[in-house]
Amino acid sequence: MVETALPSKDDLAAAGLRLEVEDAVAKITLSRPERRNAMTGRTWTTLAHVGHTLPPSVRIVVVDGEGSTFSSGIDLAMFSPEGVEGETSVLQNIGDDAESRSALDATIAGYQEGFLWLRRPDIVSIAAVRGHAIGAGFQLALACDLRVLADDAQLCMKEPALGLVPDLTGTKPLVDIVGVSRAIELCLTTRTVGAAEARELRLAELVVGGSELDSAVRDLVSALLATSPEAAAATKELLLQAPHNSLEEQIVAERRAQADRLNALARQLGG
Ligand code: ACO
Repeated sequence: MVETALPSKDDLAAAGLRLEVEDAVAKITLSRPERRNAMTGRTWTTLAHVGHTLPPSVRIVVVDGEGSTFSSGIDLAMFSPEGVEGETSVLQNIGDDAESRSALDATIAGYQEGFLWLRRPDIVSIAAVRGHAIGAGFQLALACDLRVLADDAQLCMKEPALGLVPDLTGTKPLVDIVGVSRAIELCLTTRTVGAAEARELRLAELVVGGSELDSAVRDLVSALLATSPEAAAATKELLLQAPHNSLEEQIVAERRAQADRLNALARQLGG
């Protein structure tokens, strides 16, 4: 189904989410504080829906959590036979035949869509993390371009402790940021990284006192909005390509992007 309108408040609430859109800034809040903002399959498919339908005027997406915890990760009830109301239990319909595997592949791909769009060149996404970001919660923070942490933040890739792998797009940014060796150590010990170490490992762009988190994010948003949307998107696109390109490929990409920019500026000045 191709969605054309943002999810309704009720749909968002059923997914444990709130959404505020004000001009160029969208704020997505994980909003099940009584479950420490645990997430379900519906949370992720609704996040994908938000990504598909955000107005084009939105340039910044802030993701935060209600209360003292960013997110406790997947709702553990998803693994129980009763599951979560309105959701398919993770262990239901699992089979090793091609059809079951293909159905599971499509389900997980749908969940991953909820995380992938946060990397889009036309937006900058910021995770504002206080307290725990566990498992899927850590992966959601990793899906964002930038992470601002309160000094009580605690990051943990818990999946291997549950017999699982991190599959919500988190392994690639984790390795890109901390390197393969540190990523192996963090994921296979499932230890918790505090805010100070997160800054050292470059998992946080900024660490601030808990009472300053909102104002630090506001300041960052204002600073990011200072550049033109087109220059910002073209620059982000270039930067995203850089790790995969050789120097030769990258300088060609820079020249092409600059030619596009100069043409656009000339059109603007000319008329
Ligand atoms: N799923 C479902 N319910 C949860 C989850 C979760 N992931 N995390 C917390 N809750 C519930 C608790 O069961 C508790 O419910 P209750 O009030 O009915 O007893 C309530 O939220 C509060 O939890 P506490 O543990 O009391 O809160 P506290 O602030 O002390 O601890 C913490 C928070 C650290 C997040 C802890 O709850 C925890 O470790 N949760 C489990 C984390 C986890 O293993 N997540 C899965 C990761 S793997 C993945 O995401 C794929």
